[in-house]
Amino acid sequence: MKPARIAPSLLAADFARLGEEVHSIEPEVDMLHLDVMDGHFVPNLTFGMPVIASVRAATSLYLDCHLMTTNPDAYLEELKAAGADLVTLHIEVIPNPTKVAELAREIGLDFGLVLSPPTPFESVEPFVEYVDLLLIMSVHPGFGGQAFKPEVLPKVEAARKFVDSHGFPVDIQIDGGITTRTAPLAREAGADVFVAGTAIFRDPDPVGAVRRLRSAIESVE
Ligand code: DX5
Ligand code: ZN
Repeated sequence: MKPARIAPSLLAADFARLGEEVHSIEPEVDMLHLDVMDGHFVPNLTFGMPVIASVRAATSLYLDCHLMTTNPDAYLEELKAAGADLVTLHIEVIPNPTKVAELAREIGLDFGLVLSPPTPFESVEPFVEYVDLLLIMSVHPGFGGQAFKPEVLPKVEAARKFVDSHGFPVDIQIDGGITTRTAPLAREAGADVFVAGTAIFRDPDPVGAVRRLRSAIESVE
């Protein structure tokens, strides 16, 4: 497995101080996770292109954009123009993502598929060869601060087994309720990219929180 990477979710940051929040953790993290929600696929609203473009202007970190919207395929070009590096789309809204994966590749975006907790691994299996990353949600999409669902761990194991047995260079990301207690469980199951919002930005010491998270994950190896 690849070294663990940490992707702080800006959803838990102070949006009035977004640049400072990003700069405070920048040297310690591997990428940033940006949750785009439309109030339709999920009951919450967050942010879109203007905020992504502002974050892009503030950092050279890799920007991972998790789209929780009903028509994510309509926004790939705008996301690229705003400075996104990776877009991830829910398989529940795009059950046949072959074309959108091709479009992402054409315009120079990395591409990933997301599974909500009830969605089985089999729904993405035919498309794994077209993706850079699989995101296995460990909470229901829509809100930060929820409790980790350990029942998704067998799905992480299934994804890891499938990817490794086919030799696909696909990252396995976990998102939701990630803490120093739950991240090691996801690592044991085969995750290599760890999204964490509350555990980082709601900690009085975000840099310390990232370091503690990384050492908890590395203690598994
Ligand atoms: C939830 C989002 C998550 C969220 C995670 O729909 O996809 O990225 O920010 O937040 P925590 O780490 O607080 O569970
Ligand atoms: Zn997310």
